[in-house]
Amino acid sequence: MNIKRIKFASKLGLVAAAAGSAVGLGNIWRFPSQAADGGGALFIFLYIGCIAFFGIPLMMGEFIIGRSGRANASGSFKKLAPGTQWKWVGRLGILTAFLILGFYMVVCGWTMEYIVQSVSGQLMATESFGENFNNLLQDSTRQSVWMVLFTLLTAFFILAGVKKGIEQSAKILMPVLFLLLLILGFRSVTLSGSAEGLAFLFKPNMGAVKSTIFLDAIGQAFFSLSIGMGAMTTYGSYFRDDSNLRNTAFQVSLLDTLVAVLAGIIIFPAAFALTQTPETIVTTLVAGGPGLLFITIPQLFHHLPFSSLWATMFFVLLGIAALTSTISLMEVVTTFLHEELNMLRRNAVTFISMGVVVLGVTSSISPQFFDILDYTNAKIMLPLSGLFISLFIGWYLDKKITFAQLTNDGTLSVSVRFLKFYIFILRYIAPVAIVGIFVYGIFF
Ligand code: TRP
Repeated sequence: MNIKRIKFASKLGLVAAAAGSAVGLGNIWRFPSQAADGGGALFIFLYIGCIAFFGIPLMMGEFIIGRSGRANASGSFKKLAPGTQWKWVGRLGILTAFLILGFYMVVCGWTMEYIVQSVSGQLMATESFGENFNNLLQDSTRQSVWMVLFTLLTAFFILAGVKKGIEQSAKILMPVLFLLLLILGFRSVTLSGSAEGLAFLFKPNMGAVKSTIFLDAIGQAFFSLSIGMGAMTTYGSYFRDDSNLRNTAFQVSLLDTLVAVLAGIIIFPAAFALTQTPETIVTTLVAGGPGLLFITIPQLFHHLPFSSLWATMFFVLLGIAALTSTISLMEVVTTFLHEELNMLRRNAVTFISMGVVVLGVTSSISPQFFDILDYTNAKIMLPLSGLFISLFIGWYLDKKITFAQLTNDGTLSVSVRFLKFYIFILRYIAPVAIVGIFVYGIFF
């Protein structure tokens, strides 16, 4: 079947779409708790190192594969490496995308519940935020209903298409998201007593160092940049011929890191400023994840005038960030089924949604299942496919293709030194580091 492929219409739209994929629950929900757990500044330092040395090169790599293959994550490998097994790297990614949706959607569902509770004023009227959240966790039916709704919302945007659904929504949602983050960040650091929280975030706490810190940092970096499962390959396949892959990867990674740090700046100062018992806050922060966003944050808004308004703003923001990411995750699987198995997009979306609902319901009933999905995907599948992508570009792919993609056939001025350095990183540095980190994190 010869499928006519669509391209993103504008440069801004393409950056917004890729940034929309990258910026998500990973930045606002996962990053702060990982940072708290990893000793604040030390983790952030390693994290930024991972972004610079592996994240950006691999994102560029996925763009290269996608735009030169002009197909879904598996099809692009097939075109660039016909007759080989490289397509399995793409397929591993597609499977990962599907599995990530299985727990990610549940958190999206919690966000929906919290938006509704904030708007109705019910959230700010609760006696205990911990109990309120636990009640939700106990109620798998309620969680499932929200999760299904969020899945339908995502499906709706996918069905609206690449340009109208993905690009247009990202172009509007991303600036709104940024504005909300800035407002909340400003509010948080201007609270009296916020300095302690900033210190917690930006001062290294050597006591918290663990052997898994490198794996945690790289896993978080890949997760946050949407690397290692074909999302950036798929979006790259919609890029225009004249878009600058290198600059786009830099811009998207910068935005993503900025949002993660901003989320930290919202959460930590406020958490410290607005609580009388810093010890319990530290425990919650370190326990991280759910507790952080759904217990600590409402607690913090509770102390402010117009609390329901702040809470609504925050959870809407979280919902927006999550939505542009679930769209990218579902698009990866949709294009694959559409192009490789000749399914209509509509049928593909229905099929995927049903699968996601099954995984999601299981995750909302069993926290263990939820954790297993989170762990295996972030710490095993993503680094593994990051490794294969770096090997693919570093060793297999003809350098001429890489150079042609990065310079748009010689029309962009990209120095030869940069191109050589780029290959060097993907050839030696990234694979060695990923394997090292992986072995060290899993076995020690
Ligand atoms: N990057 C998104 C976040 O930070 C999640 C996500 C979307 C993702 N697409 C992905 C993670 C692809 C890994 C791979 O929330």
